[in-house]
Amino acid sequence: MRSSARSKVILTFLFVTLSFAIAGCGGSTNSDGAVSSGTPDAGVALAQVRYATPPMGWNSWNTFACKNTEATVKATADAIASNGMAAAGYRYVTVDDCWVGGRNPTTGQLYSNATTFPDGMQALADYVHGKGLRFGIYTSAGTNTCAGLSHGTRPASYPLGVGSGSLGHESVDAQTFANWGVDYVKIDYCGGNLSAFPAMRAGIAATGRPMFLSINPYSANATLPTNFAADGTLYVPAYADMSRISQDIAPNFTSVTSIIDISAADAAWAVPGYYNDMDMLEVGNGMSADQDTAHFIMWAMMSSGLNAGNDVTKQSAATQALLTNAGIISVNQDALALQAVLDTADSAGSLQVWTKPLSATGTRAVALLNRGATAAPITVNLANLGLKGTVQASNLATGATLGAVTTSLTQTVPATGAVLIELTGTDPQVVNGSLAGQNWIWSTVQSGTVAAKVFPAGSSLPAGASAAASIVTHAKSYVDGLTVNAPAQLVYRLDGHCSTFQSDIGLDAAAQGAGSVDYQVWADNVELYDSGTVTSSTPIKTVRVGVTGRKTLRLVVTDGQDGVTHDVADWANPSLVCS
Ligand code: GLA
Repeated sequence: MRSSARSKVILTFLFVTLSFAIAGCGGSTNSDGAVSSGTPDAGVALAQVRYATPPMGWNSWNTFACKNTEATVKATADAIASNGMAAAGYRYVTVDDCWVGGRNPTTGQLYSNATTFPDGMQALADYVHGKGLRFGIYTSAGTNTCAGLSHGTRPASYPLGVGSGSLGHESVDAQTFANWGVDYVKIDYCGGNLSAFPAMRAGIAATGRPMFLSINPYSANATLPTNFAADGTLYVPAYADMSRISQDIAPNFTSVTSIIDISAADAAWAVPGYYNDMDMLEVGNGMSADQDTAHFIMWAMMSSGLNAGNDVTKQSAATQALLTNAGIISVNQDALALQAVLDTADSAGSLQVWTKPLSATGTRAVALLNRGATAAPITVNLANLGLKGTVQASNLATGATLGAVTTSLTQTVPATGAVLIELTGTDPQVVNGSLAGQNWIWSTVQSGTVAAKVFPAGSSLPAGASAAASIVTHAKSYVDGLTVNAPAQLVYRLDGHCSTFQSDIGLDAAAQGAGSVDYQVWADNVELYDSGTVTSSTPIKTVRVGVTGRKTLRLVVTDGQDGVTHDVADWANPSLVCS
């Protein structure tokens, strides 16, 4: 043992001894039994989850582009209301680019193209609402819309649209949209200005009308960093309900799989009420039936918005059946709203197992994704998922019961296809005491693994954890803890057995005096604590929150809006009081 390591163990021993001694005097043990290391920090204003599950609807762009008209939108609303899509959960009918006629120089308000949308957007919103649906509209973060800038997609009859983007007009446009009865705003980028995104959020808030805010910082060759936070510009989940993470989708399997990989890399940024948008669906737009199925299953698994992008007035029975598949949609609309993470892949990366916990305890959705050119068996191993007891399996897309699974389940998956499974067994439920050595049910980190340091030495680490550098913040040693590289998240099952979560928080010694993060504690998608920005010079804080009756606990460490270099952060002495 190196001397520094020995001194850490001694420090830890002293700390444990001291803690027990103090607890024995009754001085710092709270009435519910949690050992307090400090006065609980009040934190900053908590986030409101505006939309608890990803949006479902339809968007005009993938099929109609600039050939979109009032008539096509009305026909689409008619179809969605009557063909089973509304009943399956599709709500928003969104008019993408090319509806704008210009901006009234006197009032500053946008108006619609008189040829293609002659009755105006308020009448169209009324029509869509009359079908029991919600109305969405497109704008951009520049002075022009994307198609207004691109003559390739703009019919000759379409006016240039200069001045028809929302930059500098965010408040007036948000109010105009609210006046029209808009329920969903998609704001594109195309070389606009990032300031338009938060300005549109503020504009929407000022109207008092709930409007889902979908932003697209990736359009038209803009290659901005993940969620902007990487360059310290903006922390998107603070204001957008959903953000595109890729360039435009195309109806081919290469495009689909490339977006899956981008979304996987961005999973740790998605917090409750904020979704990584994998773009509008290309189901029914020319891929094979198996490819359409894999595409829809993976968009559902990764909690993307499900905005159909086909002509729903003419879709085949197979397309209609897929888009309304209740089992697949239930995975997307599950109340826990977690994004799937990659469990295993073969060495070529073409046979993959993706998993996400569902809200019902002991339940996992599992997608077996075959990216290769031939049908192949794909196996999910129960040991990887942490499920215990008798595990029952079913095919969520077909409803077929697959029976009891003991160690693993293998299914033959078609080439460029996917099979969606539900597994139900018993989850590892947390127990009273230190959280550091306990099993989480889901974790996501952008880089590295979660490191858990558990004393006494020899205690087992949770699945997915690696042994940590010692948990030291501000030269203070702790009994145990979790060290993460932001952005990183962990979800535990409480199942209503616990009353209090407590932890000290601070940047790890590995942050080397730099870095800045934001700690968040969520339970059942309600934010219980938000630290605000914590830097290496912020004094150690104590988080202490009530979790009585909560089923899940979600620990989030995200960026402090200056990039994630050096963002090595500790949950020190994390503990739960449970019955
Ligand atoms: C960009 C977006 C698309 C669509 C078009 C409209 O390319 O990424 O989703 O909105 O603009 O011009």
